[in-house]
Amino acid sequence: MRSQVMRKTRVGMKEYQLESMFLHHTYMYGGCRHCSYTCICATGENSSVLHYGHAAAPNDRALEDGDMALLDMGAEYHFYGSDITCSFPVNGKFTGDQSLVYNAVLDAHDAVISTMKPGVNWVDMHLLAEKIILESLKKGCIIVGNVDDMMAERLGAIFMPHGLGHFLGIDTHDPGGYLKGLERRKEPGLRSLRTVRDIQEGMVITVEPGCYFIDALLLPAMESLIGRFKCFGGVRIESDVHVTASGCKNMTKCPRKIWEIEAVLAGEPWPLV
Ligand code: GLY
Ligand code: MN
Repeated sequence: MRSQVMRKTRVGMKEYQLESMFLHHTYMYGGCRHCSYTCICATGENSSVLHYGHAAAPNDRALEDGDMALLDMGAEYHFYGSDITCSFPVNGKFTGDQSLVYNAVLDAHDAVISTMKPGVNWVDMHLLAEKIILESLKKGCIIVGNVDDMMAERLGAIFMPHGLGHFLGIDTHDPGGYLKGLERRKEPGLRSLRTVRDIQEGMVITVEPGCYFIDALLLPAMESLIGRFKCFGGVRIESDVHVTASGCKNMTKCPRKIWEIEAVLAGEPWPLV
């Protein structure tokens, strides 16, 4: 469904038109009468606003050439929610900076999904995602310094100021998974993960690393970076995974690699043939 929206996205459209296409496609072709939460259709700077799209910011910006779009939209089917995020350039082609940030997030997303299995600690997965993003930003000369020092100073939270993911089920942020095996742990800086547990077979969890350029967070940290990434917004990639006995299965099938995204944006069918 997302690929349908991506294929029809054009500079000059309003964000709510992307939302409307998603709602139409999921109902018309997926039988989904409801969505799991208010659609977040953020473009340009809005993509760094984590829960954009609410009543006071109703997805009403016009898409501009050069914008990244961050579409966080989930259809509900038979009372079960989904929660998926795709990020892509609205004009169909990634710039160098957009590729760099996108691949930083995609590498974090893929590394977490290939490491997740029963017994693995969720906080460790969050820290793995942060580390991979910081290493990629360093490799791209966006930041300089020792990544372990950055981790110790919690710099990762400047670029990803939200948790890596959450349980998913009847509700988008499903509380059911918290019923047993809870462990309370104080992890400095990881406010959203104070209550942690090891991953268990059968859990359904979202994996949604992101990298955002938020003036209010970056300004005190790095004045020189602001100019280059002003108005960049952010990138988030979110998949829904089911933990199995030996790993996890990604239930989300949408274009992820840059070449796949660019092909769909150019009008190719999804899945690509
Ligand atoms: N998709 C919205 C959220 O995870 O909060
Ligand atoms: Mn989510």
